[in-house]
Amino acid sequence: MKKITQIALLAGAALASSTALASADKLIFYCSAQEEWCQVMANGFQDATGIEVNMTRKSSGETFAQVKAESSNPKGDVWWGGTGDPHLQAAEEDLTEPYVTPMRGELNDWAISQAESASDKTIGIYSGALGYGYNTDLLKANNLPEPSCWKDLTKPEYKGHVQMANPNSSGTAYTTLATMVQLFGEDEGFQFMKDLHKNINQYTKSGSAPIKAAGRGENTIGIVFMHDAVSQAVSGFPIQVVAPCEGTGYEIGSMSIIKGARNLEEAKKFYDWALTAEAQSLALGVKAFQVPSNKGAETSPSAPDLSSIKLIDYDFKKYGSSDERKRLLKKWDDEVSTLPQ
Ligand code: F6P
Repeated sequence: MKKITQIALLAGAALASSTALASADKLIFYCSAQEEWCQVMANGFQDATGIEVNMTRKSSGETFAQVKAESSNPKGDVWWGGTGDPHLQAAEEDLTEPYVTPMRGELNDWAISQAESASDKTIGIYSGALGYGYNTDLLKANNLPEPSCWKDLTKPEYKGHVQMANPNSSGTAYTTLATMVQLFGEDEGFQFMKDLHKNINQYTKSGSAPIKAAGRGENTIGIVFMHDAVSQAVSGFPIQVVAPCEGTGYEIGSMSIIKGARNLEEAKKFYDWALTAEAQSLALGVKAFQVPSNKGAETSPSAPDLSSIKLIDYDFKKYGSSDERKRLLKKWDDEVSTLPQ
């Protein structure tokens, strides 16, 4: 009897320590930047700390929905990347955890403002301007003029030649919708989305898919963040990047720790590491041309120069608020996506 009790105790202790080891040494990492960059961040952190990383890539709106759906039993620890608006919504809906990183002093002001507007439940990791890119070969083959403004994309000659993502799943596409509302006013902005709808050949799930399709010659024009178009051009595809003449919106790509994270200490370690200049400089190896939030991180000469682009004063607080994001998405679902093409 005594022996059985001893064995049971030993087994219990072994199980407890292996559970402690397992939970102490891993990180469940939700990623909403480009797949290659997500992979490099997962491997880089694993190499730097020995902490095993389990990474899943999903678009910004999809990850928000997943974090919300899992909130009563959280599975993820840290959410890195993706547009800032759904991170702000997650903060407002109390789905994420406040954390003040010791790395703040190394960051650009826009990264800190993002944190301040969400009571430190998120922080800026990169920024990038919205625009579009087109396949120069396909444009010529179809005898189409070179577009240079947003409004050009609604002209009838581009019918079937424009692709963008669905704003429900994609942060890029939500940024597009919120940009049009801010640039043209709500009525004209929605009218633009309706006119554009007539020319759209497909609403993709992921934000960068339209320009990847253009790179492969399967689509002519893709509405994307300019850095995603640059990435295709630098990879040798015939892509011309456009900063639209009317001006454009931009993103503050963000990072948040998920509330109730089972591996909270590891999540904080990742958070601090991801804000270092070394970690952010990994972006260049995978042709990720966003502007890094760490002032000391390397930027590529190929990266779009945000100071030379006409940027709107994007209201992150408003368009990242739960009510406004829900309202705009519902209005787009009801009034735009259902229209015949
Ligand atoms: O491909 C990279 C990127 O454009 C990021 O800059 C951005 O935060 C993210 O993709 C948005 O992806 P999605 O539109 O799929 O949510």
